Amino acid sequence: STPSLLILPGDGIGPEVMVEVRKVIDWFGANRGLSFDVSEDLVGGAAYDKHGTPLHDDTMEKAQSVDAVLLGAVGGPKYDALDFSVKPERGLLRLRKEMDLYSNLRPAQCFDALADFSSLKRDVVAGLDIVIVRELTSGIYFGEPRGIIQEGNERVGINTQRYTESEIDRVARSAFELARRRSNKVCSMEKANVMESGILWREVVQKVHDEDYSDVELTHMYADAGAMQLCRWPKQFDVIVTDNLFGDMLSDAAAMLTGSLGMLPSASLGAPMANGRPKALYEPVHGSAPDIAGQGKANPIACILSFAMALRYSFDQGDEAARLEQAVEKVLGDGLRTADLLGEEGIEPVTTSQMGDAIVAALTAS
Ligand code: NAI
Ligand code: MG
Repeated sequence: STPSLLILPGDGIGPEVMVEVRKVIDWFGANRGLSFDVSEDLVGGAAYDKHGTPLHDDTMEKAQSVDAVLLGAVGGPKYDALDFSVKPERGLLRLRKEMDLYSNLRPAQCFDALADFSSLKRDVVAGLDIVIVRELTSGIYFGEPRGIIQEGNERVGINTQRYTESEIDRVARSAFELARRRSNKVCSMEKANVMESGILWREVVQKVHDEDYSDVELTHMYADAGAMQLCRWPKQFDVIVTDNLFGDMLSDAAAMLTGSLGMLPSASLGAPMANGRPKALYEPVHGSAPDIAGQGKANPIACILSFAMALRYSFDQGDEAARLEQAVEKVLGDGLRTADLLGEEGIEPVTTSQMGDAIVAALTAS
């Protein structure tokens, strides 16, 4: 049956970049026989304006039943004063929580044409293509006990790192599944030298590997050494799997290997559905960028690459995902730049829709 895709453009530049993704989706339908049953709905401030809630129950239900959700961005100054319970980001949080999206994928992919944008040397990052899998629903951000308590004559701030075997097991599986669709290599990062949760993490990841994924190459690394290796020679990695806290830091650091926020896609995956593919929400890493909304300045590439991730991880179309990534590489190689990618003087930026059109043209030429 036709795969289903729910599009939630959201607020600010969300709807602007999503227009360009729709062009790409239409191209695949017309030229590659890849049709999707696409529906579109409201999320964030847009949903609040219409329904008084940042995510309507009907939308939540749809999100639970489709093969993949693609989201633009939510939020904006218009909604800053709203009560926390109806803030736009609550719509996104509800999606992540109710879909139980425990595995957060943050690729760091460096297109050759942008290698000079990186904070590192060109040869260290050019052609880089790695994914950090961050556990997203447990660990020190959620563990109990937590709080600030009085102890004698001073206060103590407390958080607890806590991982159950099943929480480690499921995110490890998600990383191994990904690795099989890529270069078949996983590096697991923790601090087993000083943390009990790290000892358990290492043990469970190794067990999942030995029992069900022994075809995948698995290595372990202490997370601090991993941070160093990410900056020294990131191309040694393919998939990195790590906990919520280390993943938060390592993925932000890895993002800077590749340049602009306008280039970074992400995916959040949950448990496998009946068809074997995971529940999935794809979204650019950036927000609604109110400072440039409505001006045609937004870079649509992060959202277009998020759709490429959907092709690869939800629809089993790795070759078509690569085709789309190569089209992006081609337009960047041709020198096209939205304003956020302009370092050099004397280059005129292209608009959001010019960038989208150029990517579609590059697909056609491919
Ligand atoms: P932001 O990511 O929206 O913008 C940060 C800076 O990057 C801005 O200068 C913006 O113009 C630029 N930028 C971001 N995406 C771009 C793109 N595609 N092309 C060109 N330039 C781009 O983060 P900020 O300003 O902290 O937050 C703005 C709003 O977005 C807030 O309401 C925030 O809560 C929300 N937000 C939503 C997220 C989501 O929906 N997942 C994530 C982060 C923030
Ligand atoms: Mg962060």
